[in-house]
Amino acid sequence: MEQGIVFKEKAVARAHQFEAFLNQAVRGYDRVAATLHVGGRKGSYDDIRYEFVGGSQDTLRKKHYDKSLRLLWKAEQHMPWSSFRDLTSDEQIILTQAFEALSASERKQLKHMRTEDFKQKLNAAYTPEQKQALVNILSLIGHGEAYAWMVSAELLNECKSTGGRAAITMQVLEEAKHFVVLREIIQAFDCPIPRLPVYEYILLERTLKSEGVEKFFGMNVVVEGFALSLFGILSDMPCLEILKMFHRDESRHTALPSNYLAEFPLSWWQRKSPAARLRRLLMVLPAVPFLAHIQEDFAVLGVDSFAFGGSMVRKILNLAERVGFDLPLPRPVISNFLNDVFNAYCRYTRQHHVAQRFVEMETTRGEEQLSVEKEVFQLVEQHTLAAKKASNVVPMSA
Ligand SMILES: [Fe+2]
Ligand SMILES: [Fe+2]
Repeated sequence: MEQGIVFKEKAVARAHQFEAFLNQAVRGYDRVAATLHVGGRKGSYDDIRYEFVGGSQDTLRKKHYDKSLRLLWKAEQHMPWSSFRDLTSDEQIILTQAFEALSASERKQLKHMRTEDFKQKLNAAYTPEQKQALVNILSLIGHGEAYAWMVSAELLNECKSTGGRAAITMQVLEEAKHFVVLREIIQAFDCPIPRLPVYEYILLERTLKSEGVEKFFGMNVVVEGFALSLFGILSDMPCLEILKMFHRDESRHTALPSNYLAEFPLSWWQRKSPAARLRRLLMVLPAVPFLAHIQEDFAVLGVDSFAFGGSMVRKILNLAERVGFDLPLPRPVISNFLNDVFNAYCRYTRQHHVAQRFVEMETTRGEEQLSVEKEVFQLVEQHTLAAKKASNVVPMSA
């Protein structure tokens, strides 16, 4: 039998004493440097408690990390024609069993579904003009997904607690999936893919440059509100059923700031600072020229871009209020102002325009999609109704 190592007790004890001394010196230096804001420990990790700074926050983990894993979807299952091979062997077995339960004609249809077949389905479902309009609209969110991936990756290092980080990690993973999968869908249309319109470029760059949890406003409120509305309208269209998966993910992302900030609330100054409130309003305002810029593409698909915009703005303002990101003016004032601007632009560019309450419209289609959104917005509606009752103000229809 091999003999165990025999240690020189005193020498080993001295080595441990040295480590303890060095530990005190290094951490002491880091504490002082952090207090003086000249450096210090970068990792907001508490190795003494074996926890990230902010605690465990299991509720956040359960609501986002666990739920994301339960609802995790694979591109190979929903897009057998794509280049993705992301199913596990167990999932493949389950799919094979489901495949065998199909009728002979259904099986034949699925088995031979390749990229070329998907392209043929697209050509059968849409005219060339409609295909180009769809690419123009889908690429708006395709480019947005790239920024969502970058912003969520940066937020990961700015969020507190083990549960908070687990939640954001799932968003990073999902944004990565959204970007690569949507890119392949858009490329299958075989149409030129446009660059970012400058209005969206400004919004996305401002979001990426936002400080700390303020990124939640640009990202999870404005950009996710836009994504949720867009997937809500497109996921009911032929060949785009997979966008229901995106829609479900985005609804979870829009709920993330309110769940996170319930545990780590914004300070009074973070909410009320005039500069922060103005910055938020300036982030929403590019929506006006942006909706004007895309109105022809939406019209090709039979949708009024300002109806879409009204529906989207209402959701964004709801989310901002729910999360506690105050704006310089009350929500009804901003809604009415945007509604007036939308109508003024329509009068300027359209013949026989009749004024409409765009901000009261709902453009999300499909029962499933509407119920997903209802779940996200239910809380704020309850909260808003309670507040209106209390102040005896007539509720603005939401
Ligand atoms: Fe996304
Ligand atoms: Fe997202």
